[in-house]
Amino acid sequence: MKVTKAVIPAAGLGTRVLPASKAVPKEMLNIVDKPAIQYLVEECAAAGITDILIITNRGKGVIEDHFDYAFELEENLRRNPAKADLLRSVHEVADLANIYYLRQKETKGLGHAILAAEHFVKDEPFAILYGDDIILTSGEQKPVIKQLTDVFEATGKCVCGVQTCTEEQVMKYCTLDVTPAGGNAYDVHRIIEKPTKEEILSYFSILGRNVVTPDVFDRIRTTEPCPRTGEIYFSEALSSFAEEGRLIAVEFEGKRFDMGSKMGIMQANCEAALVHPEIGEEFKAYLKALAETI
Ligand code: UTP
Repeated sequence: MKVTKAVIPAAGLGTRVLPASKAVPKEMLNIVDKPAIQYLVEECAAAGITDILIITNRGKGVIEDHFDYAFELEENLRRNPAKADLLRSVHEVADLANIYYLRQKETKGLGHAILAAEHFVKDEPFAILYGDDIILTSGEQKPVIKQLTDVFEATGKCVCGVQTCTEEQVMKYCTLDVTPAGGNAYDVHRIIEKPTKEEILSYFSILGRNVVTPDVFDRIRTTEPCPRTGEIYFSEALSSFAEEGRLIAVEFEGKRFDMGSKMGIMQANCEAALVHPEIGEEFKAYLKALAETI
């Protein structure tokens, strides 16, 4: 079955990038000249996804404004033929996909946010893109979510996107027990969220992309909140698929940036600037000159 729906949870508090995320959601922090969440919506559109639900919360209305037409601004740009490219770039954002919004009324974790998508998803498989995980691809590489939906459509199994992480990252994210299944695919047998050093099963962690079937909602509903944080972890629902032999990990191609961290924001901006058609060359020269002074 073709995957045409996606859910982007973007209702987190963004505490690691305060005060930047105090009034501006971290998903709206810019990467050169586009807010981070636009990269996610473009990734979905390039993968043939037509309907996207963004899970927001109080103070994130600016995300809705960004994916809407901006009448006054567009009228202004239309009057100046030299600004035709800008007009197109502003206008096209609103037509990338059918975008819907729903508020997560309490910040109770990623699993809780995804549960809110049940009525939108109905009985279809769907993609999940974490709102602060930006993955840039280059050249011949397919959009990351397409790399995953291709495997889902070929196997009918749920799919998570993974890459090798450092020990510190694995302990912050999750660890997967896997066996090779050919090429860049692995059968997943178990997932442990935020493992201790002794619990690490492999250095593969899930980095912000999944494709799941709608029975995931029943699994989230039966997941107990973490006694320490009160959050419902999504990886526990995924782990139940793994224990039934229904989860494949795809080691995706692409470079991932954590827009929820200060370093991630800076790295994403540097790398996107280096390949930007307008400022790429100038920025490269600037970085080289800067490197000589440090
Ligand atoms: P994170 O754990 O990185 O988000 O969740 P956070 O809570 O904003 O992180 P801190 O405060 O900096 O530590 C990954 C993704 O899941 C969303 C976030 O918006 C982010 O895109 N999320 C997280 C929700 O939508 N709801 C939640 O309750 C938690």
